[in-house]
Amino acid sequence: MSAIRYELIKTCAQTGARLGRVHTPHGSFDTPTFMPVGTQATVKGVSPEELKALDAKIILSNTYHLFLRPGHELVREAGGLHKFMNWDRPILTDSGGFQVFSLSERRKITEEGVTFRSHLNGDKLFLSPEVATAVQNALGSDIMMAFDECPPYPAEYDYVKQSTERTSRWAERCLKAHARPHDQGLFAIVQGGMFKDLRKMSAQDLTSLDFPGYAMGGLSVGEPKPLMYEMLEETVPYLPTGKPRYLMGVGSPDCLVEGSMRGIDMFDCVLPTRIARNGTAMTSQGRLVVKNAKYVSDFGPLDPECSCYACRHYSRAYIRHLIRADEMFGLRLTTIHNLHFLVNLMEQVREAIREDRLRDFRDEFFDKYGMAAN
Ligand code: GUN
Ligand code: ZN
Repeated sequence: MSAIRYELIKTCAQTGARLGRVHTPHGSFDTPTFMPVGTQATVKGVSPEELKALDAKIILSNTYHLFLRPGHELVREAGGLHKFMNWDRPILTDSGGFQVFSLSERRKITEEGVTFRSHLNGDKLFLSPEVATAVQNALGSDIMMAFDECPPYPAEYDYVKQSTERTSRWAERCLKAHARPHDQGLFAIVQGGMFKDLRKMSAQDLTSLDFPGYAMGGLSVGEPKPLMYEMLEETVPYLPTGKPRYLMGVGSPDCLVEGSMRGIDMFDCVLPTRIARNGTAMTSQGRLVVKNAKYVSDFGPLDPECSCYACRHYSRAYIRHLIRADEMFGLRLTTIHNLHFLVNLMEQVREAIREDRLRDFRDEFFDKYGMAAN
């Protein structure tokens, strides 16, 4: 018995999007879904109670950060990540295979793994399929990710081919090293850069190893959106219909809808929380920079169509004042709103799939939101 089970409820007749449910040891969540990011065992500024109130069903955390600080042995000693951070719903942990390339200095990749310097104190460290798996076993996340390499964009064909083949060998090593398959599901990550044949090769190599779920990695790395959509269309047909599909690092509203239309079930991104902390709200009419002078005496909510805690109780004028006065409550309110906006957007996507009208929903949503602003 795998720790993770995917139930396909229905497929949208208009688009092929999937309505489903993923069952984990810490409960179930409906898909397509958006996962708020809690890099360092906290979604910045938001308590677990607040995450539940805005209806988040699963959150993501990071192997790389927790490995560096406070260390996975401390989290194990605390009783695992759920207990450590007081979150009793599902947790997915990324493997570190992305952060080690984007954050650390002087890294060196070999077949064995990656040697790198900590971005915190310069310590020389090593991550490999075995280490990343052992760390995630200690954290006790419901869904673990295989240790991969995310090639930069653009990259040469030959480099991406070597890297993608190595990522598949690494995935197999993660599977072998996995000590808790009964209560943690290990997902593989499809790579292949922007090359269709390498995406197909990666999907076929990984699916032959029978993981309980598959992610699309190496996307949203600076390529044009149509190219990302093309890569999804090229890869999804090679993935099994009975397992969840996760598009990593994607969280702009238009990409969530477009990804769902192409058969993706799970998404995560720092975008909503990151832009919230610089005073930007995602609204049904597009992005709103609440710091702007034009909101000085605007006593309406961030988004008139939103029912989140921030929009029910506070005005644009108040939040603008808090942010300008460097009061942290302002950024907390904007963060709560942005997360609610995306979690609620996915609820609307699921409703549209249930009623076979996701293409109509997409057209209406984009008309209002504005395709250019995301
Ligand atoms: N997050 C966003 N993209 C990626 C990726 O390609 N690999 C991993 N491990 N995490 C990601
Ligand atoms: Zn709101």
